[in-house]
Amino acid sequence: MRLGHLLKGNDTKRKSNRRIIVIEDDVDDEDEEDEDEEETSEEREERLEKERQDRIKNKPPLSQIFNISDFEFVAKQVLPLGTWGYYSTGSDDEFSLRENHYAFGRIFFRPKCLVDVTKASTESGEIFGATFDAPFYCTAFAGSPMAHPDAEKNLILAAGNEKIPYLVPIQCSYPLDTFMSFAKPGQENFHQVHFYTEEQLKNAPEYFKNIEDNYPNIKAFFINVDLPCLGNREKDSKIRAALDPSVNDGLSLFAAPTIKYLNLTWNDMEKLKNSTKIPIVLKGVLRKEDVLKAAELGLGGCLLSNHGGRQLDFAMPPIEILAQSRKLLRENGIKDEDFKMFIDGGIRRGSDIIKALCLGADAVGLGRPFLYAMASYGQPGVERAMQLLKEEMLRDMKLLGVNSVKELNEDMVDIESLKFKGISSSDILYNSNYTNMPPPPFTK
Ligand SMILES: Cc1cc2nc3c(=O)[nH]c(=O)nc-3n(C[C@H](O)[C@H](O)[C@H](O)COP(=O)(O)O)c2cc1C
Repeated sequence: MRLGHLLKGNDTKRKSNRRIIVIEDDVDDEDEEDEDEEETSEEREERLEKERQDRIKNKPPLSQIFNISDFEFVAKQVLPLGTWGYYSTGSDDEFSLRENHYAFGRIFFRPKCLVDVTKASTESGEIFGATFDAPFYCTAFAGSPMAHPDAEKNLILAAGNEKIPYLVPIQCSYPLDTFMSFAKPGQENFHQVHFYTEEQLKNAPEYFKNIEDNYPNIKAFFINVDLPCLGNREKDSKIRAALDPSVNDGLSLFAAPTIKYLNLTWNDMEKLKNSTKIPIVLKGVLRKEDVLKAAELGLGGCLLSNHGGRQLDFAMPPIEILAQSRKLLRENGIKDEDFKMFIDGGIRRGSDIIKALCLGADAVGLGRPFLYAMASYGQPGVERAMQLLKEEMLRDMKLLGVNSVKELNEDMVDIESLKFKGISSSDILYNSNYTNMPPPPFTK
């Protein structure tokens, strides 16, 4: 059965953008502008593509990559502009996109000293019957074939080697049986699902049953609750509008304002829950009251997420909602072990992961970091990204004075400033990769 057979628009075209334009902040000398005037647009495209190919040839070796932002820096140089626009975009003015990351900068640690941390380990707690080498996962995203010809295969292989879960997307470019055959024996993963039509929703129990019967290592379904329609990914639209139309054909398979999603409700969710033994996690919850409602409905958990800042702009940063949600669950008698909490969005360091665990997350998801690592270096890049996060986590756990993720709790962090949005000190590494919204281009 093809992954996402329920869904349309799954036949990803594997082609790259032909026409490349320069991001505004990459143009820095006047001579280049003068040169442009003598070039036809075809010559300019050719020159820019040649320059990109040169950057691919001369990219830094993997040994020169020290953190997640380094991958992003390389990806921005080697990807075609249209692809970079699709991956990096948020919605509207991108406040949520930026705040997702900055919110972590408003949490500080309260480390314990004089603790024996010689046996510290990043191993996760138990999540739907599985444990992993660390409590983070590669989240679901569409568009992997534009990053690498092997697409999602890089991600499942890297996740298997690093014993990290992969949230297999419904928009995976491989058929389900082929894709799951890439997994190591016993490799445990999750599966992200969204629906476009009533018919797909009706077929969901059959789809779930096939997975229950044939893929027992899929430990949970993460169902989108943040997609009554697509967010306004304006930066992406602006960049695409300036590109050759053939580029848009490829990209619009993943994101076109005309794509319609099914408007799910709590009633649908109750039916979905009753149709499968596999735990259901709501992906895209954005307020603590909905977290409580999900727990009271008997669901497996919630993933607090604003879709990486790509849906409702000004949706709160997930880490802030997390701080409120665990408290509300506990006040209502829901034990931590009975309801799993996840967050994603803006996580770029081991310390970000630790902060989320302190505030009650069982695991956190990262999207663009692994997408950029794959675009720059394929499977070895994704593995290195996972290793870097584990190394950062382990070092920071030791410096915090804890030996296991179980010991991470609110007492280890100071969240006094968390709610004061927009006043973080600058994160220079992160900012240097941020692409400003381009203004409308003049014809000459
Ligand atoms: C290029 C791209 C495509 C995405 N496609 C999907 C998707 O098809 N389904 C989904 O549930 N989330 C999708 N997401 C959202 C991610 O699952 C996740 O919520 C987000 O990437 C987390 O933020 P981060 O990229 O800052 O880590 C996508 C994100 C990106 C960047």
